[in-house]
Amino acid sequence: MLSGIQPTADSFHFGNYLGALRQWVALQEDHEAFYCVVDLHAITVEYDPKALRERTRRSAAQLLAAGIDPERSTLFVQSQVPEHAQLAWVMSCITGMGEASRMTQFKDKTAKGGADRATVGLFTYPILQAADILVYQADRVPVGEDQRQHVELTRDLAQRFNHRFGKTFRVPEAYIVKETAKIFDLQDPSSKMSKSGSSPAGIIDLLDEPKASAKKIRSAVTDSGRDVIFDEENKPGVANLLTIYSALTGRKISELEDEYAGRGYGDFKKDLADVVVEFVTPFREKTLTYLDDKAQLDAILAAGAERARAVTEPTLAKVYDRLGF
Ligand code: ADP
Ligand code: NA
Repeated sequence: MLSGIQPTADSFHFGNYLGALRQWVALQEDHEAFYCVVDLHAITVEYDPKALRERTRRSAAQLLAAGIDPERSTLFVQSQVPEHAQLAWVMSCITGMGEASRMTQFKDKTAKGGADRATVGLFTYPILQAADILVYQADRVPVGEDQRQHVELTRDLAQRFNHRFGKTFRVPEAYIVKETAKIFDLQDPSSKMSKSGSSPAGIIDLLDEPKASAKKIRSAVTDSGRDVIFDEENKPGVANLLTIYSALTGRKISELEDEYAGRGYGDFKKDLADVVVEFVTPFREKTLTYLDDKAQLDAILAAGAERARAVTEPTLAKVYDRLGF
């Protein structure tokens, strides 16, 4: 199994954690998992090299703090495993222009600025993603619904390569994790919590000061009623807070509704603020501990890259042989 996350912010947010990273931690229990910080993907848009280096390290530290166990899972940085980029070139040579042009994420990402101002790298991003997956012979790719099209492309490319050059790749399946929570903006619960789309008050970063996180919960938008019930349509703010509460404590939403029946929003938000503080305080400390010990973090990532290459080198050697190199 393979999954990656971009190092495009100083901190991951609650949406990233509850919607993705928490599942990564659970999935490592019964899968051979490869998890990577995809820095090659992060250079497809304008960026600052110094910030990228720092964010890559911070991302890795947060994955460790979240519970990715580097003994059990292979945790690494994409650019340290050159076969990703090498295989991406090969894959780009069996991808049709029309096929690549149909990727909706590129269309969405360039809707504002126009495709002419985007880089070729942003356009071919899904091909690199296909290489990320295929180079590990992954069977499963845990992704959100929005990535389904890219996994379809990956499957098509694997099948095409196998058909043309002989069986080389496993054809992976998208693995849409069921219990994944979708987290919404605390100030605008009609849109998802997102590093690019949310205001600072609407987003809880995992590395926020615990006090600041508590304040954001207490000032989250609810509605003029006072019933703590899960109604996404009419009470999206309250529903979002219930989702967060349930995800962090493992308690059922119905149980939380019962507990807060007749008590109003004040008590509910105060308790949730405590729950959030209990989660972010140790998370932040663990992350900072990993960041403090540069040598240890570098060693973990170097070991991860080495383990990754034990898989990617044979795959690429086979591919090159098939291609006539
Ligand atoms: P952002 O939307 O902040 O740019 P990314 O697109 O980098 O975040 O997402 C990284 C991972 O986190 C993906 O697996 C994505 O599905 C998940 N994710 C991001 N935001 C949310 C959210 N609000 N709720 C649930 N999952 C989310
Ligand atoms: Na995004």
